[in-house]
Amino acid sequence: MPARDLSGFDLSGKTAIVTGAASGIGAATSIALSAAGADVCCADVDVDRLKETVDAINEAGGRAVATRCDVSDESDVAELVAFSERSLGPLDIMINNAGTVDTAPGPVHQADTADWRRLVSVNLDGVFFGCREALKVMFPRGRGRIINTASVWGLVGSSTVAPMSAYNATKGAVVNLTRELALQYAKHGITVNALCPGPVHTRLGGVYDVPEIKELFVAQTPMGRVASPEEMVGGYLYLASDAASFITGTALSVDGGWTAA
Ligand SMILES: NC(=O)c1ccc[n+]([C@@H]2O[C@H](COP(=O)([O-])OP(=O)(O)OC[C@H]3O[C@@H](n4cnc5c(N)ncnc54)[C@H](O)[C@@H]3O)[C@@H](O)[C@H]2O)c1
Repeated sequence: MPARDLSGFDLSGKTAIVTGAASGIGAATSIALSAAGADVCCADVDVDRLKETVDAINEAGGRAVATRCDVSDESDVAELVAFSERSLGPLDIMINNAGTVDTAPGPVHQADTADWRRLVSVNLDGVFFGCREALKVMFPRGRGRIINTASVWGLVGSSTVAPMSAYNATKGAVVNLTRELALQYAKHGITVNALCPGPVHTRLGGVYDVPEIKELFVAQTPMGRVASPEEMVGGYLYLASDAASFITGTALSVDGGWTAA
């Protein structure tokens, strides 16, 4: 590509799936993928809010479809990929973004097994199912982009803000699952990367609606503030694009300096 040719950033003609697309980072990323030219299949358990994302895209002249999908249910995820291909054509970009947080943060000796299992099933099983079902259709075609939403708390511990054993464990596992899948498919035209957000003001667990907790995040972030969901989308668009053709297995921190400290 000549140095001044920026066409590698253009996603026209591509199709993408985004899970957790009803809210926060997934909604912003779905809208941005469309603005960059992609057709987007938006998935979430919250079908009412999901409609808002899809309506925003379609009203702006983009092309989006919506489907209910619980990422912790492997048959839902298999049907998600099938629905996306039926609706929009061959899948180019899979963004495994749906996630949740520990219900009652606290030291691990007080942790609840049911909450641990819920986190593992959504945050880790969900990413595994999403990668597997996407790779089933990408591998025979020899092309594809997978981006998994991890967290800075997949790279460092969280107890400077809140003790969340299950969240940290699942996000760390997503980072290393990403690296391993990157190696498995590196010679097959498919890249697999993770994006590790720092604090982003979304609905996640309601934590940013509690002023004292939000202040803790602000105090811990070298930039002295939390991000908006829109500040995450550049990373997803880049990793989804041809401009990132030589990047695989990376965990890209978009964190206001959190992991530099
Ligand atoms: N907000 C942050 O500070 C932050 C930081 C690091 C990582 N993340 C990660 O970013 C991702 C998106 O979170 P967000 O901050 O936008 O939160 P959010 O709550 O605004 O959005 C998460 C979405 O995931 C959906 N979801 C939850 N469980 C699901 C399931 N089983 N199947 C399908 N959809 C499901 C929710 O309905 C919601 O729409 C998550 O993986 C989260 O862990 C967020």
